[in-house]
Amino acid sequence: MSASLAGKVAVVTGGTRGLGNAIARLYGSEGARVVIASRSATAVSDAVGAMRRDGIDAAGQACDVSVRDAVDRLRQLALDTYGRLDIWVNNAGLSGVFGPTVDVAPEQFEAVVGTNVLGTYHGTISALEVMVPQGSGHIVNLMGRGDKNPVPFQTAYAASKTWIRAFTLAVAKENEHTGVHVHALNPGLVQTDMLSGVDALAGTEDMLSRLPLINTMWGLPPEQAALPALSLVLSTKVEHQALGFPQILGRTLAYQARRLLGRAPELQPLVIRIVEGRHTRQHG
Ligand SMILES: NC(=O)c1ccc[n+]([C@@H]2O[C@H](COP(=O)([O-])OP(=O)(O)OC[C@H]3O[C@@H](n4cnc5c(N)ncnc54)[C@H](OP(=O)(O)O)[C@@H]3O)[C@@H](O)[C@H]2O)c1
Repeated sequence: MSASLAGKVAVVTGGTRGLGNAIARLYGSEGARVVIASRSATAVSDAVGAMRRDGIDAAGQACDVSVRDAVDRLRQLALDTYGRLDIWVNNAGLSGVFGPTVDVAPEQFEAVVGTNVLGTYHGTISALEVMVPQGSGHIVNLMGRGDKNPVPFQTAYAASKTWIRAFTLAVAKENEHTGVHVHALNPGLVQTDMLSGVDALAGTEDMLSRLPLINTMWGLPPEQAALPALSLVLSTKVEHQALGFPQILGRTLAYQARRLLGRAPELQPLVIRIVEGRHTRQHG
């Protein structure tokens, strides 16, 4: 086993499942000691237990990243348990409710802003407070759909990713001479709970009908999508967009070739959960 992260300590928020868990496991398999968190204490203890059974030195605690003090307590767990902090991944994310912005309830919108925007801010400054004085460290912030362009009907999520990109690139510049490297990663489509279960307002189901095909053609399993999160923390590269035109073209052609040969993979699952929005609640 190579050990490119031997001796390093990494915190991964939202590390209990999906992409965050794959990143935590990848770092662990590269020799890092890993601290994970999510809002659910049970999910944290299950994921930590599973990683330890696989030989990864891991710890974790429940932490809602929208709460600054909780994020500082997570940092303290890493420092108390392992005595140092080298990598911090702001991965925890919510996709929110799909639908017209005017109909999304304020608390649904705010939940996305709290996790994606404030969570990334909290994690970044919590990590910088340790890393700047020590003169080293890597922070990875997860971008996503909408980080460079507007996305109708998913404005809380997409605009939060625009914000994350702008924030991360700016903080990276601020830290050019501190020894701390701040990275922005868009992992492309990842086959996780986020894409297989979508909260949506009634009447928007048709707009989501192509998601299983798109996710099947262009999506990657979390283990594969996690790989750039390792390359980034071994580099000084600031931004990485994993799904560009060449990947889309290549994966579309590969999928169509398999389909023609009668070997198309099963479509990725999608459950659309219809939730009540602002107007349904007011007038429904
Ligand atoms: N899936 C994709 O196609 C895709 C594409 C581009 C970017 N991304 C980004 O990649 C990241 C991970 O996505 P994913 O697909 O792995 O999502 P996921 O499967 O839904 O997992 C999200 C993780 O974040 C945790 N979480 C959510 N809100 C939290 C909060 N307030 N505080 C702490 N933890 C919280 C969840 O645990 P709890 O629910 O227990 O808190 C879970 O561990 C996100 O930032 C997402 O935007 C994903």
